[in-house]
Amino acid sequence: MKILAFAGSTRTESWNKKLIKIAAAGAKAAGAEVTLIDLRDYPMPLYDGDLEEKEGLPENAKKLKTLFMQHRGLLISSPEYNSSISGVLKNAIDWVSRSAPGEGALACYAGKVAGLVSASIGALGGLRGLVHVRAILGNIKVLVVPEQVSVSKAQDAFNPDGTLKDEKQKAQVEGVGKAVASLLAKMM
Ligand SMILES: Cc1cc2nc3c(=O)[nH]c(=O)nc-3n(C[C@H](O)[C@H](O)[C@H](O)COP(=O)(O)O)c2cc1C
Repeated sequence: MKILAFAGSTRTESWNKKLIKIAAAGAKAAGAEVTLIDLRDYPMPLYDGDLEEKEGLPENAKKLKTLFMQHRGLLISSPEYNSSISGVLKNAIDWVSRSAPGEGALACYAGKVAGLVSASIGALGGLRGLVHVRAILGNIKVLVVPEQVSVSKAQDAFNPDGTLKDEKQKAQVEGVGKAVASLLAKMM
């Protein structure tokens, strides 16, 4: 039950980086082994087919792809940019999706289980963006659990230590991690 957890934001004070830690804690409490990463540690160019043809995957895309291959579950906290997925997240999904010669299509996505959460300073908490993230993952053969949480007005929702003020909301976010861990356990 290995789960890879990350936010779709690289920002140091990212609300989504705080939120993913809470979802990850829920998965750990449910017995999963969670690897929490920061996409800032994997900078990569925008996907470019010419670059891929000449040089293959950039080093950081290879590292990220290896991590995806080593984990059966994904937990993602996705910021909403202009009603949709962040460029950082989409670019990472795109590079990682590229198959090596002889490798099956979407080898690092097919059969995975994912859970989604989001945080935004807006009133909808990034809910509209999650619709797109869910659709993208579904189309690349990832099973996305129905449980999801969007934390609105993030600037008011978190304590300075990164925990959520609302205990019920905290339990819901942990519940997304737990849902992924529980489904993975049933699949083993
Ligand atoms: C380019 C851009 C577009 C944004 N569009 C939205 C949006 O459509 N809906 C929303 O709720 N917030 C939007 N925001 C505000 C983000 O919710 C806010 O910047 C949030 O802090 C980003 O997540 P992070 O804290 O994890 O980096 C946008 C921010 C940026 C930079």
